[in-house]
Amino acid sequence: MDYAECKAVLSTKLTKERYKHSLGVSSTAEQLAKRFGVSSEKAKLAGLMHDCAREFPTKDFVEIAERMKIPVGEIERHAPILLHAHIGAKLIESEYQIDDEEVQAAIRLHTTGGENMTKLDKIIYLADLIEPNREFSEVTYLRELAEKNLDRALFEAFNQSILHVIKGNQVVHPYTIIARNEMLLKE
Ligand SMILES: [Fe+2]
Ligand SMILES: [Fe+2]
Repeated sequence: MDYAECKAVLSTKLTKERYKHSLGVSSTAEQLAKRFGVSSEKAKLAGLMHDCAREFPTKDFVEIAERMKIPVGEIERHAPILLHAHIGAKLIESEYQIDDEEVQAAIRLHTTGGENMTKLDKIIYLADLIEPNREFSEVTYLRELAEKNLDRALFEAFNQSILHVIKGNQVVHPYTIIARNEMLLKE
């Protein structure tokens, strides 16, 4: 499916709010891609589709993931919503006929981040947080950083995500810690 077809189908799968968020992530990702020299077509598409599996009932995530042969760890069993990223990455291939490993990887990594993120992965992670419909106290700061420096913005985005998770007394996913540490160790 091309971008317009994906958009039409997606609009029937998501709530109005989530669909609006997805369009916001798509256009933010497109801008970031142009700014930081990545394929804007891929960024636009990955941004649009990143939450395509987000509206499945939470109780079904583990079963769907297992059926799709996605590894389900202890943390995912505890917080099944995390699986929407992995399921979404597979779903774009099976349901939307998008066969693009780079787009799939960016969708897979959009909630936790991970090791060796590509520029496209970083853009989607960041766009998810700073798209125009997002409102939280540090969002303006993150948007300003994203104007200039992708890695700096991403590092701060990891900080914000980790702090948010800690404030909610939730489990911090090790991938996010690994991704954040990797950025410090590379400097
Ligand atoms: Fe998501
Ligand atoms: Fe999202």
